Amino acid sequence: MLEKLKQTTAYIESKVSIKPEVGIILGTGLGGLAKDIENPETIDYVDIPNFPVSTVEGHKGRLIFGDLGGKKVVAMQGRFHYYEGYDMKVVTFPVRVMKYLGIGHLFVSNASGGVNPEYEIGDLMIISDHINLIPNPLIGPNNNEFGPRFPDMSQTYDHSLIALAQDIASKHSIKTHIGCYVAVTGPTFETPKEYQYFRIIGGDTVGMSTAPEVIVARQMGIPVFAISIITDLGVPGKIVVITHEEVQRIGMQAEKKMTLIMEEMLLEL
Ligand code: HPA
Repeated sequence: MLEKLKQTTAYIESKVSIKPEVGIILGTGLGGLAKDIENPETIDYVDIPNFPVSTVEGHKGRLIFGDLGGKKVVAMQGRFHYYEGYDMKVVTFPVRVMKYLGIGHLFVSNASGGVNPEYEIGDLMIISDHINLIPNPLIGPNNNEFGPRFPDMSQTYDHSLIALAQDIASKHSIKTHIGCYVAVTGPTFETPKEYQYFRIIGGDTVGMSTAPEVIVARQMGIPVFAISIITDLGVPGKIVVITHEEVQRIGMQAEKKMTLIMEEMLLEL
């Protein structure tokens, strides 16, 4: 993997002039933040050696480099999921690439189903913890150059970034929750009993991404901030038929709030 990483990083560095300080992963329906990136330089995933190509609708599949909130950023418009059939090393490869490109922080967004009965569709949840039920991306031989064999996960989501996000949200009267994201493989949405189970084990939302990328970022010592848009509810009495299109639609409606928080956070970093 080290050879592939070096090859991919060298290719990207030969194509763009920007050295990113912050990496951003944009979730389903949340690609709009990319429009705010100034002086953009983009590379399509199909052109990047060793990069898989996202197969999911709503995930565009390109890296966008540029200026956002006064920082040099690289945004992944489109991410890779386990349910697409990729090995977990492939799902998380772009995070390692971003580290090799020089990022010092990682911001992640996603869409998820709320299982906390206080949540409503369109709400934002700042992720303070996760329960990962997708195979761990660190399974297999460990290269010590990447980080420890047994990484600590007690401080997975950076406390000072969470506090900063909360301050910015309250300044703009944006309602946010703070809670635990349960990561599952998908691609099925949950049955009512599965939603109930995720609530019982301590979850506030459930989704099909994020935890793997965050695990890899933390192994490499990158501070992480993650935020979720609640696109549907897995709460008894409120469960309705859900589709990927609906998740995208709600994501697009709510993303302005998320974008504002992230951009102001970048200004303060
Ligand atoms: N379950 C799993 N993943 C999701 C959901 C959900 O309800 N909503 C958006 N992504």
